[in-house]
Formats: sequence, C-alpha cells, structure tokens
Amino acid sequence: MNAESLLTHVGIIMDGNGRWARSHSLKRIEGHKAAEKSIHEAVEFCGEMGVKYLTLYAFSTENWKRPRAEVSFIMTLLKSFIKRNIESLDGNSVRIRATGRLDDLPSGPLNALRNAMERTRNNDGLNLILALSYGGRAEITDAMRQIAHDIETGLVKASAITEETIAAHLYLPDVPDPDIVIRTSGEQRLSNFLLWESAYSELYFTDVLWPDFRKRHLEEAFEAYRTRRRRFGDIDSD
Ligand code: FPP
Repeated sequence: MNAESLLTHVGIIMDGNGRWARSHSLKRIEGHKAAEKSIHEAVEFCGEMGVKYLTLYAFSTENWKRPRAEVSFIMTLLKSFIKRNIESLDGNSVRIRATGRLDDLPSGPLNALRNAMERTRNNDGLNLILALSYGGRAEITDAMRQIAHDIETGLVKASAITEETIAAHLYLPDVPDPDIVIRTSGEQRLSNFLLWESAYSELYFTDVLWPDFRKRHLEEAFEAYRTRRRRFGDIDSD
C-alpha cells in the first residue's frame, strides 16, 4: 500500500496495558513499560508508509483519577521514554508534538516534552503527536472559552462563528483530521479521543492488546482502511 496517497493522519487509542500485565501475572505498570515496543513499531511503520501524523492517546483527562502510584509511574515513563528515544527520533526526522492540557503535567515530564518539541520543531518527517492530559471535551471547551472571550472583547461577532472558527481554536489547528482511529484491546468506543476531529474518521477495532500490537497489526488496519469508502456525507461518485 502506498500510504502517501491514502493515509495522512493515524490516531491510536493504546488500550489494554493493564489486561496484558494481568494475563502475564505482572503488575499493571509492567504493561505500560511493555507499551514502549509497540510505540516504536507504530512510529517506524508509519514513517515507512509515509504517514505524516501519528497521534497516540497516552494519557486522558480522566486518567488522573487512577491510583496516584500508577499516574506517577506513567509520568516518569513519559520522561524516560523521551530521554531514551529523542536521539533516534530526531535522527529519523520525527517531529515530536503534543496535544492536551499540557500545563497539568508535572514539571519533569513537561520540561522533557517541551525540550523534545523544541529540538525537533524543524524536522520534516513523521509528526509524532502525544495526547497527554487530553480530552476531546476539554479541547472543545477550551476552544469555546477562547472564542467566547473574543466575542466578549468585540473581536468577533457570534453570528460570524463557523465550524472553521472552532477548528481554528483547537489545540493543533494545522493538523488535518485523522483518516483512521485505531483502538486496541477490544473496546469499541472513542473515550473522549479527538471528538471534533474524528467526525469522519474510519474506526478500526482490534482485540490485540496494545503491548502485543506489532507492525503487522498496523498493516492489517491500513489494509482494512483501504477497503473502506469514505463519502463524508456525500454519495459515491462512481
Ligand atoms: C491504556 O491501558 C493505557 C493507558 C491509559 C496509558 C498509556 C500509557 C503508555 C502507553 C505509556 C506512556 C506513554 C508514553 C508515550 C511513553 P490500560 O491501563 O487502560 O489497560 P486496561 O484497560 O487493560 O486496564
């Protein structure tokens, strides 16, 4: 498949780390650790396929409700993931970006993330977007606040607000909507991931748990995408 003409933006809900750990009689955090290999494979395969944007749902606005020790482990993992991989990601022209309420992150991981984004900002390969403290409703709420402020201060009229206005106030307005959203581990819901942006995305669900997710699974998802007909509300032209 030549993804250059097909897939521009791939979104992945990396689910099932806890269940993977349990199935191997390990602690939940071991599942998050094991997730790194799958992240590597997804980044590599998307790069090979010419995908321009890969958004990984790494931590949701709701994930703060998890036990403190698990949250703290994931945050430490985020920082060490960046430290361990920045050299090779940068070397492969990957641009690291992030979406979400980033100010909620502890200063250690936040600084590592900001440094990585700064270091790779001119890279022209894959955009690796980490969704961190991300929620689709939070994103839309934040956009609404900004727009309401612009109305309050007389910058714009309420009657002039269009879908484009809202899209322009999302966290990453330059990033095109995802073509496909993949969720691992058998759950079939969006769980607040890219709610506005996924309005017309193809949804792909697999039972494979995220730590077991390999290139061949991503290839299967891309193949399934190829057979879908995207009409965006229109009718088939042929
Ligand atoms: C879902 O599995 C996974 C998460 C909520 C956290 C994802 C975190 C990582 C992949 C690691 C940190 C991120 C980076 C970029 C290094 P789950 O824990 O909900 O699994 P379960 O549904 O089986 O319990």
